[in-house]
Amino acid sequence: MTAAPLLASRVVIITGAARGLGRAIALGCAASGAKVVLADRDAAEVEAAAAAIAGAGGEAVSVPTDVSRLEDLERLCTATVSRFGRIDGLVNNAGVNFVKPVLEVTEEEWDRVIDVDLKAAFFLTQFVARRMVAQRPAGGAIVQIASVHTIAAVAGAAPYDAAKHGMVGFTKAAAVELAPHGVRINLLSPGLCRTAIWQHVVAAAPSEQACLDYWWSQIPGRRLIEPEEIADAAVFLLSDAARAFTGANLLADLGMTSLLVGREPYASRPITGA
Ligand SMILES: NC(=O)c1ccc[n+]([C@@H]2O[C@H](COP(=O)([O-])OP(=O)(O)OC[C@H]3O[C@@H](n4cnc5c(N)ncnc54)[C@H](O)[C@@H]3O)[C@@H](O)[C@H]2O)c1
Repeated sequence: MTAAPLLASRVVIITGAARGLGRAIALGCAASGAKVVLADRDAAEVEAAAAAIAGAGGEAVSVPTDVSRLEDLERLCTATVSRFGRIDGLVNNAGVNFVKPVLEVTEEEWDRVIDVDLKAAFFLTQFVARRMVAQRPAGGAIVQIASVHTIAAVAGAAPYDAAKHGMVGFTKAAAVELAPHGVRINLLSPGLCRTAIWQHVVAAAPSEQACLDYWWSQIPGRRLIEPEEIADAAVFLLSDAARAFTGANLLADLGMTSLLVGREPYASRPITGA
């Protein structure tokens, strides 16, 4: 017996889809049978990403979108419905971050991160959910790409920490309100993934080995997460296989947030309890 693809004929919007996790999620959704709408502020790169999916036999369109502009988000929903007739899934993935001490963050920097990572995710959730509630058959699934920063903070990332924690709050409220309408909404929180972020981390280290030694002491899985692994989890949350999930924060972090502190690099004396 052959199972139907998990997202057969579902219409799914993915933001930040030009590269990194968003691009992998768009590919994964298309490979699972979805018609995908790729949104990104980088018009040329997102068009290339959609063309690559279409070239491989998938159904994909790109809509140049700056998610921090509400009129762009409205246009994204309208373009999706006029092309495909409905919206079954949304992945709020577009995100930005920067490193600066809390004592030095400016209002402009705070607004930039909050606008893209939190405000955009809230309003696109609202616009898409309105369609999901009104369409027939009603319902759909929304995935917020959050972060391990929803569990604890990292020095130098206060606005990002605030935005990602904020995503948890509004997602729980929306999950409660929208459950009776058949709209499920969950968070997917990655640990350290192999995207441009990792290249920046390595570039800042004295050597790649020093960088690896440090990070492996923080990550029990002792490796990077591949974008395709996040895509698999997003496809699951968008699909009926996750029909019992709403309001959840799924951690795809190889144990990073389960670790309180790493073990000492030397053998500690056995503690007998005597
Ligand atoms: N890479 C990681 O290790 C990691 C870990 C945890 C969470 N995340 C989250 O995953 C998401 C994707 O991360 P990534 O590593 O793929 O990032 P990335 O920088 O490689 O890609 C982000 C994409 O978002 C787009 N984007 C940024 N601002 C936008 C805007 N205003 N409008 C439209 N598009 C915009 C960019 O053009 C880019 O294509 C982010 O929300 C990030 O916070 C990443």
